Amino acid sequence: MSKDNLFSPFNIKNRVLKNRMGVAPMTRMSSINDSIPRQDVLEFLVRRAENGAAIVYTEAIVTDYESAQGYPGQARMLTQRQIDAWKPVVKAIQDKGAVAIMQMFHCGRIAWQEINPANRVIAPSPIRPKQNNRLTGKPYPLPDEMTTFDIDHVITGFVETAKGAVAAGFDGIEIHGAHGYLINSFLSAYANQRTDAYGGTIENRFRFAKEVIQAVHHVVPEDRLLTFRISNWGVVDMEVSLFDSKEEWQELIKLLSKQPIDAISVSTYRYKDKAFGTDQDMARITRDATDLPLMICGQIFDRTHAEDALTNADIVLSAKSMLLNPNWVEDVRSGKELPLYRREDANVAYTDQPLP
Ligand SMILES: Cc1cc2nc3c(=O)[nH]c(=O)nc-3n(C[C@H](O)[C@H](O)[C@H](O)COP(=O)(O)O)c2cc1C
Repeated sequence: MSKDNLFSPFNIKNRVLKNRMGVAPMTRMSSINDSIPRQDVLEFLVRRAENGAAIVYTEAIVTDYESAQGYPGQARMLTQRQIDAWKPVVKAIQDKGAVAIMQMFHCGRIAWQEINPANRVIAPSPIRPKQNNRLTGKPYPLPDEMTTFDIDHVITGFVETAKGAVAAGFDGIEIHGAHGYLINSFLSAYANQRTDAYGGTIENRFRFAKEVIQAVHHVVPEDRLLTFRISNWGVVDMEVSLFDSKEEWQELIKLLSKQPIDAISVSTYRYKDKAFGTDQDMARITRDATDLPLMICGQIFDRTHAEDALTNADIVLSAKSMLLNPNWVEDVRSGKELPLYRREDANVAYTDQPLP
C-alpha cells in the first residue's frame, strides 16, 4: 500500500471522494423539537467536511413515528420542516467538497417504547436482549413478532425517509443493517427465530434486508448512492458473534453484493481483531466476498492504523476521533501521535455542549 493512498481520491459510482477518510454515523440525541437536530449538531457535520473529511454520514435517522425510535431525541426526515432543516447543511457539506450521506434505521428490539408516539416494540421474534438498557437501567421490552403488515409498514418508513433524503439533496442514503437493530436482527439467527419466509436459512433471513434495499432503490435516483452498513456485533449482548462462521458472513456479503447498492460499510469493534476464529480481520474476510467499495470502521485513530486498515478496504470511517478532534484529518496527514479515545470520552456527544 503506497503511503499516499489515504489521501488519494476514490470513486464510488459517480461521486469522487477527495481522500479515504470519513465521518462515521453518530447519533447525538439532540432532536428535541420536531425531530430536528440542534443547530450546533448540524454545524458540527459541516465543520468536519470543512476540515477535510471526504464523506460525512449523518446520525441514524429514524424511519417512522410508530416503533423505529430507540433513543431519545433522534431525528426524522419525514416532514417538509425536517427536510428544510437539513437542506442548507447538506449543501454546506457539499460546498466544502465532501459527500453527504443520510443513514436511516429502525431500532427493532433495542427499543425504548415510551419515546415512540405509538408506544410499540417490534422485532423478527419476541426475544428481548439479555442485557438491560444502559440508559434506563431496565430490561428491554418484549417485542411483538412482526406481522407481514408490520414488515410492509416498516419498509414504507424506510422508503419515505429515503425520499426525504433525496429531497434534502443528500448524495446518498445508507441503510443501517448493523449493531443488532431491526435489519441486523433479521439477518442473524441470534434474534431471528421465525419459521416463515423471513427466518431459517440465510436467504430467508436476508429477505427483509433485500426487500428494504429494493424498495428504497426504487425511489433513489440513479445519480445518488445507496450504501449498506453491517456488523457481526450488536450494541447489546455485545460479546455475541451474530454470525456463526466466516462462511456464513461471506454468504451474506455475496447476497448483499447482488443488490443495487454502491458500497458496503463494515462496522467492527476493532478493525484489527481476527474474526470467526480465523487469522483474518473483518475487512479481509469481507473483501474476499465482494468487489463493491468497502468501508471499514473501529478504533482507527492515527495514520499508521488508517493506512493499515486500507490494506483490505477502500475507505476508513472514524466516529470517536472525528467527534473529539476537529483537526483529525490534518493530524492524521501529518502523522501526529494521536490518542485512542474510549467509549466514555464520547459521552460528550449526548450533552448540549457544542463541539468544536
Ligand atoms: C456518539 C456515537 C454515536 C454513534 N451512533 C451511531 C449511529 O447512529 N449509527 C451507526 O451506524 N453507528 C453509530 N455509532 C458507531 C460508530 O459509527 C462506530 O462504528 C464506532 O464508534 C466505532 O468507531 P470508532 O472506534 O472510530 O469510534 C456511534 C458511535 C458513537 C461514539
